Amino acid sequence: MSRITLTRLLPAACIAALAIAATPANAQFKNAKHAVEYRQGAFKVMALHFSNIGAMVNGKKPFDAAQAAFDANVVQTISALPWVAFGDDTESLNSDARPEIWLEKDKFLAASKKLQTATATLAETARTGDAAKLKVAFGETARSCKACHDAYKN
Ligand code: HEC
Repeated sequence: MSRITLTRLLPAACIAALAIAATPANAQFKNAKHAVEYRQGAFKVMALHFSNIGAMVNGKKPFDAAQAAFDANVVQTISALPWVAFGDDTESLNSDARPEIWLEKDKFLAASKKLQTATATLAETARTGDAAKLKVAFGETARSCKACHDAYKN
């Protein structure tokens, strides 16, 4: 994507983020299966943009500040979404979610808040265009992904 396209996209992404933030966290799912698909889809999209930042800060892709800011904004927005889709009716469905999620709901939600704090810092840091600082914020965020996966994901 060219820099010009990204510059045009960034404000739109910010507006989308605001619109999502303003929506109460009770997205209506048709059924439990759709909730599982929704959360898995959200994780996939978040992971794609997150790994793009990783590739840039780890020298596998050239660093592009506008692209990094765009990706970090997406990661921050998406990091608010999956949690509402872990309803009780989804516990028995086939997925990579471990039963501990429903036994320790508070701890699971605390881990999701930790991620959202990390992704807010990630997005803020990305906007500065400082690749070295972004690498640190990326590492912090990756640790919160891993901590939750170790405890709650198969
Ligand atoms: C608070 C817990 C938690 C945090 C934090 C978390 N995840 Fe996950 N993640 C899960 C759980 C639980 C699943 C399994 C969901 C399922 O199968 O329904 C999952 C699934 C995934 C998947 C697989 C999606 C699929 O079905 O293909 C990816 C990719 C992923 N996470 C990436 C990430 C990344 C990247 C981060 C950090 C930026 C992150 N996750 C942070 C709990 C978490």
